[in-house]
Amino acid sequence: MKRPVAAFAGLGTYSPGKILTNADFERMLDTSDTWIRERTGIRERHIAGPDETVAVMAREASLLALQEAGLAPTDLDGIIVSTATPDRPLPSAACDLQALLGATNAAAFDIGAACSGWLYALLVGESLLASGFAKRLLVVGSEKLSAITDYTDRSTAVLFGDGAGAAVLTASDGTRGIIAGHLKSDGRLAELLYRPGGGSVAPPSEQMLKDRSYFIKMAGREVFKSAVRSMADAADRALEQAGITGEQVDLMIPHQANIRIIEATAEHAHIPMERVFINVDRFGNTSSASIPLALDEARRAGLVKPGMTILLVAFGAGFTWGSILLRW
Ligand code: UT7
Repeated sequence: MKRPVAAFAGLGTYSPGKILTNADFERMLDTSDTWIRERTGIRERHIAGPDETVAVMAREASLLALQEAGLAPTDLDGIIVSTATPDRPLPSAACDLQALLGATNAAAFDIGAACSGWLYALLVGESLLASGFAKRLLVVGSEKLSAITDYTDRSTAVLFGDGAGAAVLTASDGTRGIIAGHLKSDGRLAELLYRPGGGSVAPPSEQMLKDRSYFIKMAGREVFKSAVRSMADAADRALEQAGITGEQVDLMIPHQANIRIIEATAEHAHIPMERVFINVDRFGNTSSASIPLALDEARRAGLVKPGMTILLVAFGAGFTWGSILLRW
């Protein structure tokens, strides 16, 4: 097991107050609470209002993380934001967040790895600490998926929610922090889960809103199969690196996309469901905000204790997937 170089000094999250329930979707679309709960595990999701931008939600989560770490925004030397839904195409969400925080001493940039993005950002952050480039980093996942969700498409509309989570990452004392990590991608499968329009190949147009190509498209069943396979593999890789088995994991915090994917991953890794934290029922899929939102909620519920071994595992568009093992 490697000696950790990066550890969490603070964690914070933000969830919009507005909630869309399955009953709301029953009024909007040809769907049912039963179908949504049985096929996904979702009951409701938080939806951001106009003032709850990606940067604003990130700021709220970041201020809580900084407060816990006992740091001021000006103490930060780096800000990494993972998002698939930046407030504007240019500049990065991280620069918008930097301005809102007044974190004038930081280098700020975004990471694009969809639902796996927070794990990508944490491992990039770990490398920046290990190289000596940075000492105090903010690593954020902030998403406003409602802005790119097609609310006329029942196969995707019911899945997504909004929110943000942030961690302050600093040098480890050598006992706690990131003890293993694995990242992987397969860009050949990009068009199974993507947004066809709105980028530089197909700039926004009226036609795009009519044919709905501005919004997320997903081949659900294919994505489901890949997610199960890839999250199982990612869990194996982190456990192998650390030289432990799933039985030795105290808590698994998976990406919250679908309860059935989570159950399959846990079963593969031999982690009983009592040791898997789930909040997909109340948040839906919040992409790269999902793991920090779940980790923080687990912590506030008293489920995270010093010395625990925690497995984070994610899968998302790209395809991208990955895992991190933490000693808390
Ligand atoms: O964040 C990381 C990436 N995302 C994921 O990991 C999501 C992966 N995929 C999934 O979670 C699942 O594939 C879904 C929840 C999206 C769909 O569940 P499924 O069991 O794979 O259903 P399906 O797409 O195979 O559709 C089954 C049926 C279809 O009807 P027919 O063709 O059998 O008559 C759909 O039209 O369910 C229908 N359906 C719905 N029915 C009621 C699809 N969406 C809905 C809906 N309400 N909201």
